[in-house]
Amino acid sequence: DFDTFDISEELGFVLEEPLTHLPDYYRVWLDLANNLTHLIESRKLRDLVHNMPVLSPDLLSNHRELRLAHLTLGFISMGYVWQEGQHGDMFKRNDMILPKALAWPYWLVSRRLGLPPILTYADSVLANWKLRDPTGNMDLIFSFPGGESCRGFFLVSLLVEMAASSGIAVSIQYSLPIFHARKFKVIRKTKFVLFPDHVEPTAFHGTLRIFVSGWKDNPMLPRGLLYEGVSSEPILLSGGSAAQSSAIQCFDALLCIQHEDETGAFLTRMRDYMPPAHRQLIETLSICPSLRDFILSHSSSDLCQAYNSCVSALVDLRSYHLNTVTKYVIVAGNRARSMGCPLRGVGSALNNTGTGGSNIMVFLKSVRNTTQKALILER
Ligand code: HEM
Ligand code: ALA
Repeated sequence: DFDTFDISEELGFVLEEPLTHLPDYYRVWLDLANNLTHLIESRKLRDLVHNMPVLSPDLLSNHRELRLAHLTLGFISMGYVWQEGQHGDMFKRNDMILPKALAWPYWLVSRRLGLPPILTYADSVLANWKLRDPTGNMDLIFSFPGGESCRGFFLVSLLVEMAASSGIAVSIQYSLPIFHARKFKVIRKTKFVLFPDHVEPTAFHGTLRIFVSGWKDNPMLPRGLLYEGVSSEPILLSGGSAAQSSAIQCFDALLCIQHEDETGAFLTRMRDYMPPAHRQLIETLSICPSLRDFILSHSSSDLCQAYNSCVSALVDLRSYHLNTVTKYVIVAGNRARSMGCPLRGVGSALNNTGTGGSNIMVFLKSVRNTTQKALILER
């Protein structure tokens, strides 16, 4: 049920009412994260991190405090690693180190949450929102450089997650026989998001994108990142990506859309970047009796149509998404290259590779085509 999977009936996988404050002991973390955009742009963040005390995460006592700590340390770490863009000296030396004051508490908080010590979709989207004013407008808790385009990018994903919540509720009800039903937790509030006009492709590609990039499948950090005080070898971890969204993988599992080969392997690997309870729902749905087989064996044209309209909606979403990616990654990347590499952005480093590490177009087309093939053809 909803509690088992850490899911809100109203908000789906979105964290309900994320905290924006931690116990005072952690003030230095929040001071940095709250001023992150300014500290990155003025190139002060790295020095401030070098002077940061090593704090113990032991005073963090509940799930929402841990989620805020993970989000906070994630934003600071991304800012620390990418402050100088792709041209920092450390990339030439190929030995980027995450200082112990970040690495050690981040590692421990991550272990308690079952998340990897890098900024994930569950942080930057699911746990990074607050009500901006009493009327219910939503805003981000933390931002990267990129201004309104940064806000738009994370808030649009958040809105998609909220829109998916009723579908998640259906998925849970479907898998209920496998678990014991408990009462649903219902909260109802009105929320609006004031959107910036649009996410600007140049701002997205040239400014924001590097800050969600990781240290796996990334030529800028081919050997990974050394977490000082945690491990003597560098660690490889993928950057943030909506491929880590549990919602879409739940729909695939419910509709028995099975991605194969490299595509399937990549999506399965992205589950390591989801909160364990959310991952559990996807895995539960994938071992439920097949909805698709049930429909095939009942030759009811109503059922078939209902199933097909769900699959078609996913195909449409994925086609629309392919167009978006062409505009924001491929075209924006070509334009940046034709004008000479931008100083701070990803430049040509993540040309054909997503921040999550996939071979973008091959991957996204394969996902879309497999979805299309699940349509049941009327006999
Ligand atoms: C995957 C780019 C917005 C949902 C991906 C991938 C890229 C990408 C490059 C491939 C995986 C990787 O290696 O990272 C973008 C860009 C966006 C955008 C440039 C906007 C500027 C969104 C939004 C959603 C979304 C708003 C909705 C929540 C997904 C999903 C996948 C994915 C579900 C996994 C593939 C699939 O299941 O179809 N995206 N994305 N994306 N993205 Fe986006
Ligand atoms: N996953 C998105 C990208 O690769 C953010 O640009």
